[in-house]
Amino acid sequence: QGNIQPAKLVLLGDMGAGKSSLVLRFVKGQFTDYQESTIGAAFLTKTVPEFKVKFEIWDTAGQERYHSLAPMYYRGAAAAIIVYDITSTESFNRAKNWVRELQRQGNPDLIVALAGNKADLAGQRAVEPSEAQGYADENGLYFIETSAKTSVNVGDLFNEIAKRLPKP
Ligand code: GTP
Ligand code: MG
Repeated sequence: QGNIQPAKLVLLGDMGAGKSSLVLRFVKGQFTDYQESTIGAAFLTKTVPEFKVKFEIWDTAGQERYHSLAPMYYRGAAAAIIVYDITSTESFNRAKNWVRELQRQGNPDLIVALAGNKADLAGQRAVEPSEAQGYADENGLYFIETSAKTSVNVGDLFNEIAKRLPKP
């Protein structure tokens, strides 16, 4: 398997949106209700043999005091997942700020996905999928709702990014 392509992927988004939980679900197939808030950033890798891709994943910290570190992680990235919590309008607004920051300072070839996480909490929904889809369409993003808890759409999210990566 010498032709596995490495791809740097960064997760951005508000604290508590579920970045670490999505990564742990994807990489380890695990979920905990007691996930600790990330300090700085965490690094994990996962190979997807089907797409011959090795994701090198930077799971960043959403707390505001770590914001200035973010460029270190999105610079040189092939793809970004911007995560919000569907029960929080504020987290959706933060996601839009990340989109703007990537548009201003990121790589124009960056593949950007918008993940509306905590889809299992639909009873507490604050952000309609139609609103997020409309925003994603206007900004050239791939949009999907996910649940790190139930694992709904988590594989699809990462697979879609893998499919969109430029072929070596
Ligand atoms: P920071 O590291 O502080 O930026 O937060 P984060 O975006 O990494 O969020 P994290 O993964 O730590 O999740 C925050 C909380 O939300 C934890 O208590 C998780 O258990 C919970 N959580 C994450 N994803 C889901 C989900 O899909 N559904 C539900 N119900 N809870 C979730
Ligand atoms: Mg985290």
